[in-house]
Amino acid sequence: MDSAPAPRELLEIAIDVARDAAATAYRMRAEGVSVAATKSTVTDVVTAADRAVERQITDALRRLRPADAVLGEEYGAAELGTEAPARVRWIVDPIDGTVNYLYGLPHCGVSIAAEVDGEVVAGVVRNIQTGEEWTASVGEGAWRDGRRLRCSTETDLGQALVVTGFGYDPARRAHQARVVAELITQVRDIRRLGAAAIDLCLVAEGRADAYYEKGLAAWDQAAGALVATEAGLLIGGLEGLTPGPDMVIAAPPALFGPLHDRLAALDASGGP
Ligand code: IPD
Repeated sequence: MDSAPAPRELLEIAIDVARDAAATAYRMRAEGVSVAATKSTVTDVVTAADRAVERQITDALRRLRPADAVLGEEYGAAELGTEAPARVRWIVDPIDGTVNYLYGLPHCGVSIAAEVDGEVVAGVVRNIQTGEEWTASVGEGAWRDGRRLRCSTETDLGQALVVTGFGYDPARRAHQARVVAELITQVRDIRRLGAAAIDLCLVAEGRADAYYEKGLAAWDQAAGALVATEAGLLIGGLEGLTPGPDMVIAAPPALFGPLHDRLAALDASGGP
């Protein structure tokens, strides 16, 4: 079996590709943007930029790493090379925070992660509007613009600023709203910013204390979760499950247990 590329090498590729992709998304936003199609519900939109940016990323990865696999939000899975199965898989969200992008709100980003043998080892999230860029490779810390990131040291859930998000399906949202209506009485406050990948990076910086959400896809969280982990956050699901579509919790070690227990008591993984 071929030796796996170093995480650092994959990270450098991800950074270059993400910068070009973010530049395209920025330019397309400046030229004007509209909804190209809807996906799971009428509010789950895709713009021409989502598709163009994902194509650009996939084409760049095909040139640079022709034997790898890619999983992208808009076009799904593609095996780039002919030698299956690929050891390296790229997980791509061309524009996380599509609704913010549509409205010109500056909280949307390109997210690219690299997995080796099923483990995320490198990731970059780049804010399309502000140019903020968060990076991590496994065991080498999380960084933004040359500064090493450390998560919040908050120990009291009652003082924690907690970020979350909502799905697109109205029935799921109703359940998520019931959970957050209870939780908001037990924490400092709640934020719903609208781009899970960036949310995780903000928590990695301590610009909020903790994050949770039900319903995330792999592309929403792969890069951001590595940034968060490398900044010292614990990441998990409920009841010992791995983080995934049922639940992603990212919290500093002292807050993980209390937040987990509140979410479990509120059946935050339940509902549709
Ligand atoms: C969405 C955003 C949002 C989160 C949703 C995601 P998209 O991704 O990350 O913050 O709450 O669950 O689906 O659709 O903008 O790529």
